[in-house]
Amino acid sequence: MRTKIIAGNWKMNNDKKATAILIEQLEENLQNTNGRLIIAPPFTHLEQSVALTKGSKLEVAAQNMHQAISGAFTGEIAAPMLQSINVRTVILGHSERRTYFNETNHALAEKVQTALDYDMDVIFCFGEVLSERKEGKHFETVKQQLEEALFGLEAAAWKKIILAYEPVWAIGTGETASPEQAQEMHAYIRQVIASKYGAQVANTVSILYGGSVKPSNAADIFQQKDVDGGLIGGAALKAEDFLAIAKAI
Ligand code: 13P
Repeated sequence: MRTKIIAGNWKMNNDKKATAILIEQLEENLQNTNGRLIIAPPFTHLEQSVALTKGSKLEVAAQNMHQAISGAFTGEIAAPMLQSINVRTVILGHSERRTYFNETNHALAEKVQTALDYDMDVIFCFGEVLSERKEGKHFETVKQQLEEALFGLEAAAWKKIILAYEPVWAIGTGETASPEQAQEMHAYIRQVIASKYGAQVANTVSILYGGSVKPSNAADIFQQKDVDGGLIGGAALKAEDFLAIAKAI
């Protein structure tokens, strides 16, 4: 049995007050939600979010971190800092980090290893851009992202890895991969992992889909047999929508 997971990536949204309100609205309505439920607020609100979710099933993740554990990296945040405020999960490799902040698969391999050194769970994002899909190169791209960023890991490390397939053309565009497209890619991802690590790792890693998931399309996507949940952007900013998606898993 794979763990079902719904994670909300808040990106650069919500001030301190809005964070408290959204968490309170979520906390009040968590009944009938299955699996793990994770929110990833901006760095400035992590400590507050950890405090507000104490004792609840809602988990708090960071949206990024640096690969070094300390040093002269102005503006960056390190794994021990996250650990010191009880943040135990980090999103790495989001397409916005790759596109706007030039994160490479090589840097991501280092970030993943550092996160694991600090016993954190990693939500590793990857996916093709539109031109790659149009040219039929989406499988190749995804395989390369996995190989370069994750295939240096030992098999045992995969217990801490959650994959999030996010086709870049579906992020924030309102255009979702069809349930069939999502299933096709998730099955392919499992096959690529199986050929490197064997069926046990491939069949136990949770693979989330991300890209314009909303209450109206969540159930169809989550019904696919290799889709284990979702990484939600825009719809995670409204408690009602995020909870409706969480209940669709
Ligand atoms: P949207 O759900 O807004 O398309 O964003 C998806 C995403 O990037 C989650 O990380």
